[in-house]
Amino acid sequence: MKVLTDVYVLSNGVKIPKIGFGTWQVPDRDVAYNSVMMALKNGYRHIDTAAAYRNEASVGKAIKDSGIPREEIFVTSKLQSHIKTYDGAKEAFLQTLEELGFDYLDLYLIHAPWPWNEMGKNCDEGNVEAFKAMIEFYKEGKIKAIGVSNFSPKDIDNIIKNTDFVPHANQIAFFVGLDQEETRAYCEEKNILIEAYSPLAIGYALKNPIVIDMAKRYDKTPAQMLIRYCLEKGTLPLPKSTHESRIIENSHVDFTIKKADMDILDDIHDDPRRWGN
Ligand code: A2P
Repeated sequence: MKVLTDVYVLSNGVKIPKIGFGTWQVPDRDVAYNSVMMALKNGYRHIDTAAAYRNEASVGKAIKDSGIPREEIFVTSKLQSHIKTYDGAKEAFLQTLEELGFDYLDLYLIHAPWPWNEMGKNCDEGNVEAFKAMIEFYKEGKIKAIGVSNFSPKDIDNIIKNTDFVPHANQIAFFVGLDQEETRAYCEEKNILIEAYSPLAIGYALKNPIVIDMAKRYDKTPAQMLIRYCLEKGTLPLPKSTHESRIIENSHVDFTIKKADMDILDDIHDDPRRWGN
């Protein structure tokens, strides 16, 4: 599929394939290894992992064993959310490289503005410290691009104000029903790429009747509509599946959604993850 090799260009000129293969909640060892291997076999060239997913070693091994040259695959990992010091970030990044078995990383993100078990805590100072360590690795060429994840405009302003560096990307939950308009508009204005994790709302958005009906009209599946929606919004979707047929299905999104239908999808303001139905 063309979309797997099409790229966005980050503000520093680095090219990033428009769809990434997500590995959150993909269990380590065989499942992570096989999923990444299937994704690469089926044309994906962008893999997203994180230290917190605890599957970096399996992801790295699959990439190596695929036989595809390292430089042809874009790989992202993330600094664990509780690490908010300069030294801690330096150590954690080197550990990530070791786990993956790489000598450089394409994109490295601060996983969240606060530790997951202290959501909302003000960690402005710690985020700046961690980001300063990442800037150093970036300048040394050990990381091709650096950014953040789950950051609000205010959290990003703090980084920019205190480091004079505009992050290249912000990875956030983004899907039909949760369009994150304020963060999206802010990032667009600052030329920060939005990466959309959970583009299917961890599966729940697949059951939305409006999405199901529209998919029928386009002769596509609900998953394809939802992934295409992210692309139409200029974001980079990170779908994930452990099944090969779905991994393939999720990459068949070389179509466009008409403006009138995008308006219908934009009008859905309901995060289905809350209801679990
Ligand atoms: P599975 O791994 O069993 O295929 P998200 O990317 O929004 O986090 O959603 C991931 C969830 O959606 C996983 O539970 C995954 O399950 C499921 N999923 C992924 N792709 C599809 C698809 N094309 N059709 C149905 N379910 C899918």
